[in-house]
Amino acid sequence: MYTQALDVPDSTPAAPQAVPWVAGPAEAALQERFDLKIDADQKIEPQDWMPQAYRRTLVRQISQHAHSEIIGMQPEGNWISRAPSLKRKAILLAKVQDEGGHGLYLYSAAETLGTSRDQLLDGLHTGKAKYSSIFNYPTLTWADVGVIGWLVDGAAIMNQVPICRCSYGPYARAMIRICKEESFHQRQGFESLMTMMKGTEGQRAMVQEAVNRWWWPVLAMFGPPDADSPNSAQGMRWGIKRISNDALRQKFVDATVPQAAIMGVTLPDSELRWNEERQQHDYGAIDWDEFWATVNGNGPCNKERLATRVKAHTDGQWVRDAALTYAAKQKARALKEAA
Ligand code: 3HC
Repeated sequence: MYTQALDVPDSTPAAPQAVPWVAGPAEAALQERFDLKIDADQKIEPQDWMPQAYRRTLVRQISQHAHSEIIGMQPEGNWISRAPSLKRKAILLAKVQDEGGHGLYLYSAAETLGTSRDQLLDGLHTGKAKYSSIFNYPTLTWADVGVIGWLVDGAAIMNQVPICRCSYGPYARAMIRICKEESFHQRQGFESLMTMMKGTEGQRAMVQEAVNRWWWPVLAMFGPPDADSPNSAQGMRWGIKRISNDALRQKFVDATVPQAAIMGVTLPDSELRWNEERQQHDYGAIDWDEFWATVNGNGPCNKERLATRVKAHTDGQWVRDAALTYAAKQKARALKEAA
């Protein structure tokens, strides 16, 4: 349903790619080389010189993204033991495991920028680091699992396919595999909901009720409107971000409306309609107060999500200790044998 092609046009194709000049003769040549690479749409690799602000922006975005994948395991993981059939349980297990894997690729990509895994996790566990607002909403029924696949993963793909062309090599390469897997997640969600829609009246009502609850938080997931997005302009000039928050949100709405029609559900927005002039859908106002409350720790499940994550990390301490002890023993043995 969502293309994996990397030919999504930028929002601002003619936008200048140059980055602000750094004062000081020592760095001028390095900065110039960096600018030329960005302008030529070449990849920046870990060993390349890069401005500190570029490095900080990447660590911020990639670590937030990794944390989202890891926290994102919780709402669905909640349903593994209650899946309605062995087939659905196997699919859900694989999907939740995939999300864990995405987090690990992304932590590795962030580590190439010189920030340790421990530092990144510390930011998450102390509540300093952000993760996606969407994972602070509860999964009340089995239909929520399908809706997360269809809408949440659908929105995630819309946002993440352009990141496959991010200027930072390790992030871009990690995103190619992640997007392939997310595409499967989106399809399985759609298929699961289609199955329910062909079922009983009660199942159809369950799907509709879940869609009603998730629609608006999913639209907010793309981030604040462009006019209120402090990081967008610089992120786009550096080729980290390729398409703006509002443009991606619009693409998502336009792609989802026909899917909802095929599925037979109503999207809960009385202002949603095709605009002939714009050749896009108009849609209603998003509740940004609710979005910011959720981002700032006061959404429906923020405290529960963080507490579960911290407990899992604490409970897993013995595994990390055992792995480190084993690695140290292996190293000592190798040194002894080499001596
Ligand atoms: N939830 C939480 N915080 C959000 C947010 C959201 N949905 N959208 C924006 N924000 C935060 C930003 O992080 C930023 O905070 P900061 O400056 O303190 O870091 C602030 O709101 C302002 O937003 P901006 O638009 O200026 O920020 P960005 O330019 O970084 O754009 C973004 C935000 C579009 C989320 C961008 O960072 C991005 O594309 N990130 C990579 C993709 C990602 O992280 N996706 C999360 C979902 S992953 C997922 O869904 C897992 C899958 O399994 C389904």
